[in-house]
Amino acid sequence: MDKYLINGGIPLKGKVKASGAKNSALALMPATLLSSGKNIIRNTPEVNDIFTMKKLLTFMGADVSFENHVLEIDTDSLNTQVAPYEHVKKMRASVYVLGPLLARYGYTKVSMPGGCAWGPRPINLHLEAMEKLGAKIELEEGYIIAECKKLQGAKIHFDIPSVGATGNALMASVLAKGSTQITNAAIEPEITLLAEYLKDMGAHIDGVGTSTLEIEGVDELKAAEVENISDRIEAGTLLIAGAITKGEVEVETTNVNHLTSVLKKLEKSGVKVFLKNNIININASELSIKNVNVDTSVYPGFPTDMQAQWTAFMCLADGISRVTDNIYFDRFKHVPELNRLGASIEVDKNSAIISGVNQLKGAKVMSTDLRASASLVLAGLAAEGTTEVLRIYHIDRGYQKLEEKLRSLGADIQRVDTEEF
Ligand code: EPZ
Repeated sequence: MDKYLINGGIPLKGKVKASGAKNSALALMPATLLSSGKNIIRNTPEVNDIFTMKKLLTFMGADVSFENHVLEIDTDSLNTQVAPYEHVKKMRASVYVLGPLLARYGYTKVSMPGGCAWGPRPINLHLEAMEKLGAKIELEEGYIIAECKKLQGAKIHFDIPSVGATGNALMASVLAKGSTQITNAAIEPEITLLAEYLKDMGAHIDGVGTSTLEIEGVDELKAAEVENISDRIEAGTLLIAGAITKGEVEVETTNVNHLTSVLKKLEKSGVKVFLKNNIININASELSIKNVNVDTSVYPGFPTDMQAQWTAFMCLADGISRVTDNIYFDRFKHVPELNRLGASIEVDKNSAIISGVNQLKGAKVMSTDLRASASLVLAGLAAEGTTEVLRIYHIDRGYQKLEEKLRSLGADIQRVDTEEF
């Protein structure tokens, strides 16, 4: 078991490159179940969620290799369409195999995903979309059993523009018979990239990048290559590391426009933001942090995956800030841990009310989920003295060698082995 030891108070300075996006790679990998032949996915982050998805596809019989951030996946040798609990319980995104398996094999048995640290996360929208496409869905002993000889195109409307459900519906519909229209679809960059990848495989999709996707089913898809985008959430986390330590940081990312909502809030807090090609430069030296409220929303709004990180930043702002999560109403497990570092935050329904303090003080804190852990690291980088962040296996799910990236910016952070849990 590892923990981080952080000696805070050092303004971060320098340039760092964001790794490939975890959440888009987690959609691109199951998409390879739809095609014959060897698929290649480049710029894939070496993080545990990717290894979990690799293990699941390998368990099913796919031939998966992962070297130097390049995935090679050939699913022709698949010998089961079952995604067992042992795999799915580790990561909700495993449910992404539902649509492609149903589309290519007409059958799948996928364990219901567990909840996350911040409560249940339903998949009703995924299942309703599969039923709209003609699948028979049964729930049996914690498993979803989905069957349909040949999916039929349909009109699918999402009441909530769910990222995962949009991905599953899109991957199911590309091999369905006839036309499918998906309305109120998610428009996150990972969905846009998934659609572009499916088109490179031979899928017929119109409206890519918009909330209305029109798909004309085809009989088969061929393997293709795709270059993954940078992780906008990691990039945003690294920018806040520069801001909260009053430093000056440059983050290289494939598309600076994927972070517009976060950059606007950083500017409002008084941080100077400069964009040049695929570099985001922030200067927070001599910054007196202004309090800035945030309401998370679907893309291109402020991402829920940056909510905990922004909350950490506002701990040192002048005055009171309100951070409301409109996507997940109970994603606040980081709050009691931030308060252990001297923050002054209260949770009121799905909002954190943060009264800015002059200084955070190092302490021992515990990670509870991926983004909560990132917020504790950010607070530790700014806190006086030493902060110990326990259970950083949460961080390793979605950040590749975060301590190395932060050390390259001058942070005093070490990963150490510990018996503590
Ligand atoms: C994706 O999860 C991301 N994960 C999450 O990132 C991210 O927080 C989330 O999108 C929102 O942006 C991956 O891409 C692997 P949703 P997903 O379906 O697809 C409700 C991280 O930190 N909902 O868009 O599961 C749901 O409860 C992770 O990297 C239903 O009600 O999110 C939530 O309130 C955490 N029924 C809202 O929709 C459903 O069937 C958005 O969820 C599906 C979702």
